Amino acid sequence: MFASLKASPADPILGLLAKYNQDTNPKKIDLGVGVYKNEGGETTVLNCVKKAEQHRTDTETSKVYLGPTGSTLFNTEMSKLIFGENHKVLNENRARTVSTPGGTGALRVAAEFIKSCKAGATIWVSNPTWANHTGLFEAAGLTVKTYPYYDYENKTLDFDGMLAALKQVSADDAVLFHACCHNPSGMDLNNEQWQQVAELAQSVGFLPVIDMAYQGFGQGLNEDAYGLRLMAESVDETVVCSSCSKNFGLYRERIGACTVIGATSLQADIAYSVVLAVVRVIYSMPPAHGAALVETILTSDELRNEWYVELAQMRDRINGNRQLIVDKLIENGVTRDFSFITKQAGMFSFLGITPEQVQQLQDEYSIYMVGSSRMSIAGIANSNVDYLAQSIAKVL
Ligand code: LMR
Repeated sequence: MFASLKASPADPILGLLAKYNQDTNPKKIDLGVGVYKNEGGETTVLNCVKKAEQHRTDTETSKVYLGPTGSTLFNTEMSKLIFGENHKVLNENRARTVSTPGGTGALRVAAEFIKSCKAGATIWVSNPTWANHTGLFEAAGLTVKTYPYYDYENKTLDFDGMLAALKQVSADDAVLFHACCHNPSGMDLNNEQWQQVAELAQSVGFLPVIDMAYQGFGQGLNEDAYGLRLMAESVDETVVCSSCSKNFGLYRERIGACTVIGATSLQADIAYSVVLAVVRVIYSMPPAHGAALVETILTSDELRNEWYVELAQMRDRINGNRQLIVDKLIENGVTRDFSFITKQAGMFSFLGITPEQVQQLQDEYSIYMVGSSRMSIAGIANSNVDYLAQSIAKVL
C-alpha cells in the first residue's frame, strides 16, 4: 500500500526549525517558528507554570479519563479569560467550551463542527494567513477561499479590499479572523475596523470563526480580545479557537480550547453535543496536563498575578525588539523605510524582502525566517541584532 506514496514536502515553518537546529554557525539566528525566546535565545518554562506543576504533583490523585470535554474547570476559566467576566454570551449561558490539543486541535474541532453544520462548507481566510490554516481546513473537508487582508506594497491593511470581499460572502459560509497578532503579517484591525467587520457579519450573516493564538502578546489580555468580544456580542453564532501555547508557554503540552456560541442556550447545548461527538471520533479526549496547569494558575490569585507579570515581560520584550531592529537598520545605513514593523503587533512581521534574499540570509548568514520573509520578532536579541541588521543591509 505504501508503494504509491509520494514524499510530502517539509512543513514551511517546522522544516525551517529542523534546518536551523542542524546549522553549526555560532552566529545563527532563528526568526522562524513562532515561539517566545528570552534575551538569551531560550524558551524557558514560566515561573508560574513551574509552581503550578509542583502543586499538581503534590495534589493530583487520579489520572482517570476526563471525557471529550476535558477539564470543566479549565473550560470555565478559559471562557472567562476569552470573553471577560461579564460578557453577554456568558450571562446568557450561550457559550460552550471544550479543552483541545493546542490551538491547532481547536481549529480542527471547529472545522469538523462546521462540516457537521454543512457538508462541504466554505471558510474564508485572510490573504495571507497562518501556513497551516488552509491545509487543516481542507483536510477536514471544507472549501477554503481567501479575502484580501495585507497590502504588501504599502505594508498595511487592505481594509477596503477586505470589506468588499466579505460583503460578497454567502450567509452559509464561515469566515476566519485572527483575534490579534495576525500571523504572519502582525497587522491587526483597530477597534473601529472591528466594529465595521462585526456590523458586516451581522448584516451578511456568515459564521465568524475567531482564532486567538496570541492573547496577551499584542496590547494586553483584554485589548487583544476586543474584536472577538465585540463579534460574539454582535452576532448569534460564533466559534472561537484559542491556544495556551504562547501566552502560558505550554507549547509541547498541547492545550487550547474550542468554544461554540449558539443563538440560545438550547442551541448551544445542541452544538456542544455535536462538538463532543466530533472530538470522540478524532482524538477521543484531550490531554489533561496543560489544562491542569492553566486552571491552577487562573484560580490562584498569587499565580495569576505572577502570570500577568511574566506575560507582560514577554510582550514588552517583543515590542522593544520591533523598535530595536528598525533603529539598527537605520544605524547600518539602510535607507528603505522599515518603520512599519513598529506599527504591527505580536510575534510576527513580514520584512518585505524577496524569497531570494530570504534564501541568501539563510545560506550566507545562517539567519532563518519563513520564505515569505515572515520574521519571528522574539528571536531578535541585543546580542544578535547588530549581526542581523548588518546581514539584512548586505542582502538589500
Ligand atoms: C508559527 O506560526 O510559527 C506557530 O504557530 C507554530 C506553528 O505551529 O506553526
